Amino acid sequence: MKIESFQEYQSAYQKSVQDPASFWSDVADNFLWINRWNKVLEWDFNGPDIKWFEGGTLNITDNCLDRHLITQPDDIAYIFEPNDPEKEHVTLTYKVLHERVCRTANILKRNGVKKGDRVCIYMPMVPELTIALLACARIGAVHSVIFGGFSARSIADRINDALCKFVITADGGFRGDKQIPLKEVIDDALMGCPTVEKVMVLTHTRIPVSMLKGRDVWWEDEAKLVDSYCPSEEMNAEDPLFILYTSGSTGKPKGIVHTCGGYMVYAGYTFQNVFNYRKGEVFFCTADIGWITGHTYITYGPLLQGATTVIFEGVPTYPTPSRFWDIVERHKVNILYTAPTAIRSLMSFGTDPVKGKDLSSIRVLGSVGEPINEEAWHWFDQNIGGGNAPIVDTWWQTETGGILISPLAGITPTKPGYATLPLPGIQPVLMDEAGNEIEGNGVTGNLCIKFPWPGMLRTTYGDHERFKSTYFSAYPGYYFTGDGCLRDEDGYYRITGRVDDVINVSGHRIGTAEVENAINLHAGVVESAVVGYPHPVKGQGIYAYVIFPRIDKDAQLTRLDILQTVSRYIGAIAKPDKIVFVPGLPKTRSGKIMRRILRKIAEGDISNLGDTSTLLDPTVVQEIIKAAEAK
Ligand code: WTA
Repeated sequence: MKIESFQEYQSAYQKSVQDPASFWSDVADNFLWINRWNKVLEWDFNGPDIKWFEGGTLNITDNCLDRHLITQPDDIAYIFEPNDPEKEHVTLTYKVLHERVCRTANILKRNGVKKGDRVCIYMPMVPELTIALLACARIGAVHSVIFGGFSARSIADRINDALCKFVITADGGFRGDKQIPLKEVIDDALMGCPTVEKVMVLTHTRIPVSMLKGRDVWWEDEAKLVDSYCPSEEMNAEDPLFILYTSGSTGKPKGIVHTCGGYMVYAGYTFQNVFNYRKGEVFFCTADIGWITGHTYITYGPLLQGATTVIFEGVPTYPTPSRFWDIVERHKVNILYTAPTAIRSLMSFGTDPVKGKDLSSIRVLGSVGEPINEEAWHWFDQNIGGGNAPIVDTWWQTETGGILISPLAGITPTKPGYATLPLPGIQPVLMDEAGNEIEGNGVTGNLCIKFPWPGMLRTTYGDHERFKSTYFSAYPGYYFTGDGCLRDEDGYYRITGRVDDVINVSGHRIGTAEVENAINLHAGVVESAVVGYPHPVKGQGIYAYVIFPRIDKDAQLTRLDILQTVSRYIGAIAKPDKIVFVPGLPKTRSGKIMRRILRKIAEGDISNLGDTSTLLDPTVVQEIIKAAEAK
């Protein structure tokens, strides 16, 4: 299944379009199944109803772990690089990882977790986080990981949406010079979560934590009580593997559901081919496991290929902006997969932090999460890749499970800013406003995918109607990505960014409606409107226009108060970068906010606001401009 030349890519692509069932069946044969499938694919984008490998049974952890115990038990699966560089790093071999996953799976069982139960995971970036995911998968429990930057209230919403029964957390986490009190946040969340029966806590920072009798248990204590082997549960290919919440156009985050069989095949296939992974190489993905990138390319994809992966707890600038390069040098990283926002932030320190670091191990560089600007691309290429490591600009989404459009490392000729060509099995199309496919090259449109792939989401948890309306109603019969896209003269794809009400802040998806809802909860706020604007490091920043008629204190203090409300209701990651107090919002006669105008003002481009004559009160625009300029 490994592609080694551009010709092989082209013929794999052709085959995948002409005969998708036979193409994916060949790929799936590289994995360990308990029972082989009866039917490769059944689909209907109008239902929508998508099934891959029906009748097949498997357990993804047999593929991630047990299979390697025969061939490479002592190879290193994970290298853990703690936040504090003075602390020793830790390595886990496949054998050790297998045992720790089995023990944790037995702890879950001992505490009443059964196949199909939902387990919430809220953890720092430590090896126990991947162990927690795999332990759930081992027994067929469905994990729902929540990123450490979300507030108690956001956690409670997600736990209650999925009706989680069990929570796995740690006392705290280290991030740079900060300590995050994770258990405390969980305790606050659980005041409103009646379905949670038990909480398992890892000792990590050892800050004081409250442990409730009958509900809370320590991971270490439990581990002593259980066996070191746990048989894997036989799962149907279409049984859910995990839920991961993501933001969309509406205020409520949705639980994206991925399944056992298709996700496994797609994660393993894309990891191997996009990065051209070679046995023995060290892979370092800097994402957090709380996001899809960390699910697919720290946890499942690398393990499926028996790879060695670095798990890094900290942040790129702690204790110095050399941290990534120190890690590359220390662990002889061959493949580095990171985000444009991290590159731009490190670029701002110049090349001094890179000087004297031995980066010669690097063979492949990767980028994910947002469009990469050319300046960052070249900086990465020259200073980190030494001008000869191919950069794979990988476009994909939480919903897609794995990478869809990307160069294959060292195989596809790259072009700065371009995700280049679709992977085998992926059929992208650009749509015009009228809902027609745009043919030919040198065109732009909204990006849709017209044929299913094994790693795609199957539903949004508990709300199949929402799945349909979000992804399959804008262009009936097509999966709509929410992204705008250009296909250039060479047929290369360049993603231009979201065309819906989602802002991409440092590669994190934030729904404008979610932020507005939080701001509107603040006492004194009448109404608000949130838009994205270009930000030099974050890609996009969050710009909030707020109607707050009676500011009786300092305006700056009121801003800080509003930020506090957003932090409490969503989490620090959703805090607006700018808040401007305005007397009104530009609304049409039917009451709709004209966001186009607000975006232009936020961008500082007021010369061309377009037609404002349909506004209920056109004079409000001048007042907003004045307020924005005064800020
Ligand atoms: C954006 C992250 C341009 C895009 C894996 C998408 C990108 C959203 C790229 C998904 C890229 C991701 N170039 N834009 N290489 N990769 N995006 O769900 O807007 O957190 O829709 O998944 O990020 O974000 P998500």
